[in-house]
Amino acid sequence: MIRIFSRSLALFATLTLFAGTLARADDYVPTVLVTGANRGIGLELTRQYAARGWKVIATARKPAEATELGALAAKSEGRVNIETLDVTDLAAIDALAAKYQGQPVDVLFNNAGITGGGNNQLFAKKMDWPVYELVLRTNVIGPLKMAEAFLPHILASQQKKISNVSSSQGSIGSMNNGMLYFYRPSKAALNMEMRNLAIQLKSKGVAVALIDPGPVDTDMMSMLPKKMLRPVETAGSDLIRITDQLSLENSGTFWTFDGSVLPW
Ligand SMILES: NC(=O)c1ccc[n+]([C@@H]2O[C@H](COP(=O)([O-])OP(=O)(O)OC[C@H]3O[C@@H](n4cnc5c(N)ncnc54)[C@H](OP(=O)(O)O)[C@@H]3O)[C@@H](O)[C@H]2O)c1
Repeated sequence: MIRIFSRSLALFATLTLFAGTLARADDYVPTVLVTGANRGIGLELTRQYAARGWKVIATARKPAEATELGALAAKSEGRVNIETLDVTDLAAIDALAAKYQGQPVDVLFNNAGITGGGNNQLFAKKMDWPVYELVLRTNVIGPLKMAEAFLPHILASQQKKISNVSSSQGSIGSMNNGMLYFYRPSKAALNMEMRNLAIQLKSKGVAVALIDPGPVDTDMMSMLPKKMLRPVETAGSDLIRITDQLSLENSGTFWTFDGSVLPW
């Protein structure tokens, strides 16, 4: 009798524990960290992830000037946290990672980027070398440092993904003219470092994506007629859809916005 009672008790305890685990799994709210979240594609990613009910760590160089992001955070019921971050400031990246110690980050979205301005990178006409350094620090070093500093947070998460906003301009195999001498190599280098990372982190369960959003209607492309550009809302949902489909099997792929694969 005592044995039957203690077995039932053990079964009850196991079922209670199991139910508790299920409830915790259901309660899990994923977190995305977006760099350059104050405007353009980063703001749209923040808007769409928040609308899905995700927590968003939205970083911006100057939050005080980020009025749209501030308004989004204000009505997000605490889901959008705005943080100050310049991705060229490696110590600031470490400090932010330390501030969020113990917080899982399901998706690190390396979005912040600059072109350096087409007129600053005209070979044998006008090459502004300090601008080239800034482009490399922003588009290449920043994303890799973000991945390194936030690796513990990513490993602690359920989804374990690093998504990088790359560009078809970084596709060496697609080039057929000579221009953008700073921007193009920066995205090709981003592709290479993240491909490396995809290989190295596969055994740890981390998947890495490189995604070209296509020509998007943001400040970066204000020199082009709007009819040539894709709405930022569409670009944002393309980036999120591809990130949703990212897995360990397809990790390290360079996609364009429609899901087709670009040549390196
Ligand atoms: N738009 C396109 O057609 C297109 C095409 C291919 C790839 N992309 C890529 O998409 C990403 C987003 O571009 P976008 O079109 O949204 O451009 P955008 O409207 O010019 O926005 C760029 C964002 O990056 C931030 N940023 C720049 N330097 C930074 C730094 N050092 N630290 C932190 N944030 C920094 C900007 O912040 P501030 O406001 O402080 O400057 C801004 O939030 C970039 O990586 C870009 O290369 C864009």
